[in-house]
Amino acid sequence: MPNATVLVVDDEPLIRWSLINRLKEEGYRTLEAGTAGDAVAQHREGADLVLLDFALPDANGLDVLKQIKETDPDTLVIMLTANTEVGTAVAAMKQGAFHYANKPFDLDEIMMLVEKALETTQLRREVRTLRARQAQPYGPESIVGQSDAIKTVRALLHKIAVSPASTVLLTGESGTGKDLAAKVVHYSSARANKPFMNITCSALPETLLESELFGHERGAFTGADRQKRGLIETADGGTVFLDEIGEIVPLLQSKLLRFLEEKAFKRVGGSSDIKVDVRVIAATNRSLEEEVKKGRFREDLYYRLNVMAVPLPPLRDRRDDIPALITHYVDTFNVEFRKKIRGVSPSAQEALRTYNWPGNVRELRNAVERAMLLSESAELNESNFPVLSAPGGDVSSGMNLPASGINLEALERSLVVQALERSGWNQTKAATLLGLNRDQIRYRIEKFELEKPQH
Ligand SMILES: Nc1ncnc2c1ncn2[C@@H]1O[C@H](COP(=O)(O)OP(=O)(O)OP(=O)(O)O)[C@@H](O)[C@H]1O
Ligand SMILES: [Mg+2]
Repeated sequence: MPNATVLVVDDEPLIRWSLINRLKEEGYRTLEAGTAGDAVAQHREGADLVLLDFALPDANGLDVLKQIKETDPDTLVIMLTANTEVGTAVAAMKQGAFHYANKPFDLDEIMMLVEKALETTQLRREVRTLRARQAQPYGPESIVGQSDAIKTVRALLHKIAVSPASTVLLTGESGTGKDLAAKVVHYSSARANKPFMNITCSALPETLLESELFGHERGAFTGADRQKRGLIETADGGTVFLDEIGEIVPLLQSKLLRFLEEKAFKRVGGSSDIKVDVRVIAATNRSLEEEVKKGRFREDLYYRLNVMAVPLPPLRDRRDDIPALITHYVDTFNVEFRKKIRGVSPSAQEALRTYNWPGNVRELRNAVERAMLLSESAELNESNFPVLSAPGGDVSSGMNLPASGINLEALERSLVVQALERSGWNQTKAATLLGLNRDQIRYRIEKFELEKPQH
């Protein structure tokens, strides 16, 4: 494996020296450590393979093995043991060591093991890359996460995909995966080989939107010098994704409702009904219920859409998915940027887990992408993620009151919840984040009846 880095861990300088010397001769890059502590630190610098002595001054080799495997399960470890007891070797293999060699060892034998191990690493990486490339772009597995909340979403999307349901409503904040969910439904349905047509309702003025959706006849309006098929017609047999459905005007809402109920429509300026078979997936990051209350959205259309509604939970409500999403994006951008970044340091991981992600998965994806572009080391840490230290605009000295006003009580509650979540419900730390003392935060926890989540 070209340019592979081998970390040699042994407390005896002479053994280290002889191994390093030989490895360098063979063209490998090397790192070395004489203690367990140093070994773990050096491993973070990015080693592909570790030669690990069993008896270290500050810890047992098995402990080091465990830590290395926890940081990066892909690093292969060859244990060096003076202890001929079979038990030790077996324990090492059980904990994921690739191989072991008894001391005193033969350098040629070690070099063969090294070569074999690195071949394995190389193959594993290639398999991972290939899998990542071949994975169906919009299969259910493209929705990353194992939290209960996202499992429910995945199962529901699957059920809908294989059902005859002709209308689906996806709701959720920006960046929660509504576009992705729409594609997953289409591509895991029997409609997968037919068109998936996508339109953002807010992007076009209403008259244009209508003719984009339903098409128009020749002469229907000035400039309509030819007949034109609309998206709905083009998508026949497939799916139409109407993004930002909350933005369409009442007139178009009625036309859409008629289409959903009768599966038939007229082109603009046309008189005959055209029948098509399409599934309509609508998405919104507004509460349609609110829009109905305010009289901006037709109640009947809302009910029609809401029959099959899938709410996509905000990322802060399914924090257990954050580590998996980080790994997913690290893998993705490693391939894209040809990097070998192993992951995120445990403390940065924790900080990312407790950050509030107002922009949801999109924000997380962008944060990892940026961190990976700029990072020089094999592991990402807090300094690579500006969101973790951004003060959120310095509002402490006073923020501007928006023209529409705010709900002070709700704002206070939200800030207290964020501080508690970010500090893992450590009241002292949370209080510090808010410039309060313990009694003051306790008072607020009681006032808002906040409870530590049970997971
Ligand atoms: N569970 C998930 N697993 C993997 N990737 C996800 C997941 N959810 C969202 N994403 C990714 O996050 C990004 C934003 O998602 P998407 O565009 O679907 O959000 P959205 O809900 O449509 O947002 P908006 O309301 O702003 O249009 C995309 O790159 C998408 O692939
Ligand atoms: Mg979207």
